[in-house]
Amino acid sequence: MYKLDLKKLAEYAGADFEIVHRCKTVSTNDDAKRFAKQFASDSSAGAFLKPVLFVCDRQTGGRGRIGRSWTDDDGTVCMSLLIKNAVSPSFSQRYVIAAAVAVQKTLADYADGIRIKWPNDILHNGKKLCGILLESVGNAVIIGIGINIANSSFSPDIEALAVSMKMITGKNLSAEAIAAETVRRVLSYSKLIAADEGFESLLDEYKQVSCTIGQDVSILGADGKKTFGRVTDFDCYGRILLEDGAKKIITIDCGDVSLRGKNA
Ligand code: BTN
Repeated sequence: MYKLDLKKLAEYAGADFEIVHRCKTVSTNDDAKRFAKQFASDSSAGAFLKPVLFVCDRQTGGRGRIGRSWTDDDGTVCMSLLIKNAVSPSFSQRYVIAAAVAVQKTLADYADGIRIKWPNDILHNGKKLCGILLESVGNAVIIGIGINIANSSFSPDIEALAVSMKMITGKNLSAEAIAAETVRRVLSYSKLIAADEGFESLLDEYKQVSCTIGQDVSILGADGKKTFGRVTDFDCYGRILLEDGAKKIITIDCGDVSLRGKNA
Protein backbone atom coordinates (compact mmCIF):
# COMPACT_ATOMS: atom_id res chain seq x y z
CA MET A 1 0.00 0.00 0.00
CA TYR A 2 1.25 3.43 -0.92
CA LYS A 3 -0.76 6.63 -0.85
CA LEU A 4 0.25 8.46 -4.02
CA ASP A 5 0.09 12.24 -3.98
CA LEU A 6 -2.51 12.69 -6.74
CA LYS A 7 -1.64 16.32 -7.38
CA LYS A 8 2.01 15.42 -7.94
CA LEU A 9 1.06 12.39 -10.03
CA ALA A 10 -1.19 14.54 -12.23
CA GLU A 11 1.63 17.05 -12.65
CA TYR A 12 4.03 14.33 -13.73
CA ALA A 13 1.34 12.73 -15.94
CA GLY A 14 0.65 15.94 -17.83
CA ALA A 15 -1.99 15.42 -20.51
CA ASP A 16 -0.90 11.89 -21.40
CA PHE A 17 -3.47 9.92 -19.37
CA GLU A 18 -6.46 10.24 -17.05
CA ILE A 19 -6.23 9.17 -13.42
CA VAL A 20 -8.97 7.37 -11.49
CA HIS A 21 -8.29 7.07 -7.76
CA ARG A 22 -10.00 5.02 -5.07
CA CYS A 23 -8.92 5.09 -1.43
CA LYS A 24 -9.56 1.38 -1.00
CA THR A 25 -10.31 -1.19 -3.66
CA VAL A 26 -10.17 -4.93 -4.16
CA SER A 27 -7.97 -4.79 -7.25
CA THR A 28 -7.08 -1.93 -9.58
CA ASN A 29 -7.12 -4.45 -12.45
CA ASP A 30 -10.75 -5.24 -11.59
CA ASP A 31 -11.55 -1.51 -11.53
CA ALA A 32 -10.02 -1.10 -14.99
CA LYS A 33 -11.85 -4.16 -16.32
CA ARG A 34 -15.21 -2.89 -15.05
CA PHE A 35 -14.57 0.49 -16.61
CA ALA A 36 -13.62 -1.04 -19.98
CA LYS A 37 -16.71 -3.30 -19.97
CA GLN A 38 -18.99 -0.41 -19.07
CA PHE A 39 -17.75 1.65 -21.99
CA ALA A 40 -17.81 -1.30 -24.38
CA SER A 41 -21.47 -2.00 -23.56
CA ASP A 42 -22.62 1.64 -23.54
CA SER A 43 -22.44 2.78 -27.16
CA SER A 44 -23.99 6.16 -26.33
CA ALA A 45 -21.12 6.91 -23.94
CA GLY A 46 -18.61 6.77 -26.78
CA ALA A 47 -15.09 5.50 -26.29
CA PHE A 48 -12.86 6.79 -23.52
CA LEU A 49 -10.38 8.95 -25.32
CA LYS A 50 -7.22 8.78 -23.29
CA PRO A 51 -5.58 5.85 -21.53
CA VAL A 52 -6.76 5.66 -17.92
CA LEU A 53 -4.57 4.91 -14.90
CA PHE A 54 -6.38 3.33 -11.94
CA VAL A 55 -4.62 3.91 -8.62
CA CYS A 56 -5.53 3.28 -5.01
CA ASP A 57 -4.18 3.83 -1.52
CA ARG A 58 -5.03 0.31 -0.46
CA GLN A 59 -5.70 -2.85 -2.44
CA THR A 60 -7.39 -5.66 -0.51
CA GLY A 61 -7.55 -8.46 -3.09
CA GLY A 62 -4.67 -7.89 -5.48
CA ARG A 63 -4.22 -10.58 -8.10
CA GLY A 64 -1.00 -11.93 -9.59
CA ARG A 65 -0.14 -14.08 -12.57
CA ILE A 66 -1.24 -17.70 -12.89
CA GLY A 67 -4.11 -17.31 -10.43
CA ARG A 68 -1.90 -16.21 -7.55
CA SER A 69 -2.71 -13.45 -5.09
CA TRP A 70 -0.69 -10.24 -4.69
CA THR A 71 -0.16 -8.88 -1.22
CA ASP A 72 -0.56 -5.17 -0.64
CA ASP A 73 2.65 -4.40 1.24
CA ASP A 74 3.44 -1.10 2.93
CA GLY A 75 5.35 0.98 0.35
CA THR A 76 4.18 -0.86 -2.78
CA VAL A 77 2.57 1.26 -5.50
CA CYS A 78 -0.37 -0.56 -7.11
CA MET A 79 -1.74 0.72 -10.40
CA SER A 80 -3.45 -0.51 -13.57
CA LEU A 81 -3.25 1.14 -16.94
CA LEU A 82 -6.16 0.73 -19.35
CA ILE A 83 -5.34 1.19 -23.02
CA LYS A 84 -8.08 0.97 -25.62
CA ASN A 85 -7.65 -0.09 -29.24
CA ALA A 86 -4.85 -2.48 -28.47
CA VAL A 87 -3.70 -5.12 -30.94
CA SER A 88 -5.34 -8.50 -31.58
CA PRO A 89 -5.22 -10.97 -28.65
CA SER A 90 -2.51 -13.06 -30.33
CA PHE A 91 -0.15 -10.09 -30.05
CA SER A 92 -1.35 -8.81 -26.69
CA GLN A 93 1.65 -10.46 -24.98
CA ARG A 94 3.71 -7.72 -26.63
CA TYR A 95 2.36 -5.39 -23.96
CA VAL A 96 3.87 -7.69 -21.35
CA ILE A 97 7.28 -7.17 -22.94
CA ALA A 98 6.62 -3.42 -23.27
CA ALA A 99 5.57 -3.06 -19.64
CA ALA A 100 8.56 -5.02 -18.38
CA VAL A 101 11.01 -2.88 -20.41
CA ALA A 102 9.20 0.29 -19.29
CA VAL A 103 9.52 -0.58 -15.60
CA GLN A 104 13.10 -1.83 -15.94
CA LYS A 105 14.24 1.31 -17.77
CA THR A 106 12.50 3.60 -15.31
CA LEU A 107 13.98 1.89 -12.26
CA ALA A 108 17.41 1.59 -13.92
CA ASP A 109 17.57 5.39 -13.83
CA TYR A 110 17.95 5.04 -10.05
CA ALA A 111 19.91 1.80 -9.55
CA ASP A 112 22.11 -0.71 -11.36
CA GLY A 113 21.49 -4.43 -11.63
CA ILE A 114 17.76 -4.39 -12.33
CA ARG A 115 16.79 -7.30 -14.58
CA ILE A 116 13.71 -8.89 -16.14
CA LYS A 117 12.76 -12.49 -15.48
CA TRP A 118 10.46 -13.82 -18.21
CA PRO A 119 7.81 -12.85 -18.77
CA ASN A 120 7.65 -9.73 -16.64
CA ASP A 121 9.04 -10.00 -13.13
CA ILE A 122 11.46 -7.21 -12.34
CA LEU A 123 14.26 -8.41 -10.08
CA HIS A 124 17.29 -7.05 -8.26
CA ASN A 125 19.85 -9.65 -7.18
CA GLY A 126 17.18 -12.31 -7.64
CA LYS A 127 14.65 -10.55 -5.42
CA LYS A 128 11.35 -9.26 -6.74
CA LEU A 129 10.92 -5.51 -7.17
CA CYS A 130 7.84 -5.48 -9.36
CA GLY A 131 5.14 -7.80 -10.71
CA ILE A 132 2.99 -7.19 -13.77
CA LEU A 133 -0.39 -8.69 -14.65
CA LEU A 134 -1.74 -8.24 -18.18
CA GLU A 135 -5.42 -8.79 -18.88
CA SER A 136 -7.72 -7.80 -21.72
CA VAL A 137 -11.34 -6.84 -22.27
CA GLY A 138 -12.36 -6.81 -25.92
CA ASN A 139 -9.73 -4.79 -27.70
CA ALA A 140 -8.57 -3.00 -24.56
CA VAL A 141 -5.60 -4.15 -22.51
CA ILE A 142 -5.11 -3.69 -18.79
CA ILE A 143 -1.57 -3.60 -17.48
CA GLY A 144 -1.52 -4.05 -13.71
CA ILE A 145 1.77 -3.07 -12.09
CA GLY A 146 2.87 -3.44 -8.48
CA ILE A 147 6.23 -1.78 -7.73
CA ASN A 148 7.96 -1.99 -4.38
CA ILE A 149 9.17 1.57 -4.04
CA ALA A 150 9.07 2.83 -0.46
CA ASN A 151 8.96 -0.45 1.52
CA SER A 152 11.32 -0.53 4.52
CA SER A 153 10.59 -4.20 5.18
CA PHE A 154 8.36 -7.06 4.02
CA SER A 155 6.18 -9.55 5.81
CA PRO A 156 8.08 -12.68 6.96
CA ASP A 157 6.51 -14.89 4.26
CA ILE A 158 8.07 -12.86 1.43
CA GLU A 159 11.02 -11.05 3.01
CA ALA A 160 13.54 -13.47 1.50
CA LEU A 161 12.05 -12.97 -1.96
CA ALA A 162 11.21 -9.27 -2.19
CA VAL A 163 13.12 -6.00 -2.30
CA SER A 164 12.19 -2.33 -2.71
CA MET A 165 13.78 0.69 -4.38
CA LYS A 166 14.24 2.21 -0.91
CA MET A 167 16.18 -0.84 0.26
CA ILE A 168 18.36 -0.81 -2.88
CA THR A 169 19.13 2.91 -3.03
CA GLY A 170 18.74 3.90 0.61
CA LYS A 171 16.70 6.85 -0.63
CA ASN A 172 13.10 8.00 -0.45
CA LEU A 173 12.44 8.25 -4.18
CA SER A 174 9.41 9.97 -5.68
CA ALA A 175 6.83 7.22 -6.22
CA GLU A 176 4.77 9.65 -8.30
CA ALA A 177 7.69 10.31 -10.67
CA ILE A 178 8.41 6.57 -10.99
CA ALA A 179 4.73 5.74 -11.62
CA ALA A 180 4.27 8.50 -14.20
CA GLU A 181 7.54 7.76 -16.01
CA THR A 182 6.68 4.05 -16.18
CA VAL A 183 3.25 4.81 -17.62
CA ARG A 184 4.67 7.27 -20.12
CA ARG A 185 7.12 4.64 -21.35
CA VAL A 186 4.41 1.97 -21.60
CA LEU A 187 2.26 4.37 -23.63
CA SER A 188 5.04 5.25 -26.00
CA TYR A 189 5.84 1.54 -26.59
CA SER A 190 2.15 0.72 -26.95
CA LYS A 191 1.85 3.20 -29.83
CA LEU A 192 4.61 1.29 -31.62
CA ILE A 193 2.90 -2.03 -30.90
CA ALA A 194 -0.47 -0.78 -32.17
CA ALA A 195 1.20 0.46 -35.36
CA ASP A 196 3.06 -2.86 -35.65
CA GLU A 197 6.36 -1.00 -35.65
CA GLY A 198 9.55 -1.36 -33.68
CA PHE A 199 8.70 -4.47 -31.66
CA GLU A 200 11.99 -6.12 -32.72
CA SER A 201 14.01 -3.32 -31.15
CA LEU A 202 11.88 -3.44 -27.99
CA LEU A 203 12.51 -7.18 -27.81
CA ASP A 204 16.25 -6.53 -28.23
CA GLU A 205 16.15 -4.15 -25.26
CA TYR A 206 14.22 -6.79 -23.31
CA LYS A 207 16.88 -9.42 -24.10
CA GLN A 208 19.70 -7.11 -23.03
CA VAL A 209 18.31 -6.87 -19.51
CA SER A 210 16.92 -10.39 -19.27
CA CYS A 211 18.29 -12.55 -16.46
CA THR A 212 16.62 -15.56 -18.07
CA ILE A 213 18.25 -15.76 -21.50
CA GLY A 214 21.01 -18.38 -21.81
CA GLN A 215 20.07 -19.88 -18.44
CA ASP A 216 19.11 -23.45 -17.60
CA VAL A 217 15.61 -23.16 -16.21
CA SER A 218 12.53 -25.06 -15.28
CA ILE A 219 9.15 -23.62 -16.18
CA LEU A 220 6.11 -24.53 -14.17
CA GLY A 221 3.00 -24.33 -16.36
CA ALA A 222 -0.53 -23.45 -15.24
CA ASP A 223 -1.31 -27.20 -15.57
CA GLY A 224 1.37 -28.04 -12.98
CA LYS A 225 3.72 -29.52 -15.59
CA LYS A 226 7.43 -28.63 -15.38
CA THR A 227 9.50 -28.16 -18.54
CA PHE A 228 13.29 -28.06 -18.40
CA GLY A 229 15.73 -26.52 -20.86
CA ARG A 230 18.13 -23.72 -21.75
CA VAL A 231 16.53 -20.41 -22.74
CA THR A 232 17.59 -19.56 -26.30
CA ASP A 233 15.26 -16.71 -27.24
CA PHE A 234 11.89 -14.93 -26.96
CA ASP A 235 9.68 -14.66 -30.04
CA CYS A 236 7.45 -12.00 -31.63
CA TYR A 237 4.51 -13.17 -29.47
CA GLY A 238 6.53 -12.69 -26.27
CA ARG A 239 6.86 -16.46 -25.80
CA ILE A 240 9.97 -18.12 -24.38
CA LEU A 241 12.00 -20.62 -26.41
CA LEU A 242 13.79 -23.45 -24.61
CA GLU A 243 16.24 -25.99 -25.98
CA ASP A 244 15.85 -29.34 -24.28
CA GLY A 245 18.52 -32.05 -23.77
CA ALA A 246 17.77 -33.47 -27.23
CA LYS A 247 18.34 -30.02 -28.81
CA LYS A 248 14.65 -29.72 -29.57
CA ILE A 249 13.19 -26.18 -29.30
CA ILE A 250 10.13 -25.92 -27.07
CA THR A 251 7.95 -22.77 -27.15
CA ILE A 252 6.03 -21.80 -24.00
CA ASP A 253 3.58 -18.90 -23.70
CA CYS A 254 2.84 -18.88 -19.98
CA GLY A 255 4.50 -20.17 -16.83
CA ASP A 256 6.66 -19.54 -13.84
CA VAL A 257 10.41 -19.67 -14.45
CA SER A 258 12.80 -21.06 -11.91
CA LEU A 259 16.41 -20.16 -12.64
CA ARG A 260 17.73 -23.00 -10.54
CA GLY A 261 17.49 -25.47 -13.42
CA LYS A 262 17.00 -29.16 -13.59
CA ASN A 263 17.91 -30.08 -10.05
CA ALA A 264 15.67 -27.47 -8.43
C1 BTN B 1 2.65 -11.08 -10.40
O1 BTN B 1 3.80 -10.85 -10.04
O2 BTN B 1 2.17 -12.23 -10.36
C2 BTN B 1 1.82 -9.94 -10.92
C3 BTN B 1 1.41 -9.03 -9.82
C4 BTN B 1 0.60 -7.82 -10.30
C5 BTN B 1 0.12 -6.98 -9.15
C6 BTN B 1 -0.55 -5.71 -9.63
S1 BTN B 1 -0.85 -4.59 -8.30
C7 BTN B 1 -1.87 -3.61 -9.33
C8 BTN B 1 -2.67 -4.57 -10.17
N1 BTN B 1 -3.89 -5.00 -9.48
C9 BTN B 1 -3.89 -6.31 -9.25
O3 BTN B 1 -4.82 -6.93 -8.69
N2 BTN B 1 -2.76 -6.86 -9.69
C10 BTN B 1 -1.88 -5.89 -10.31
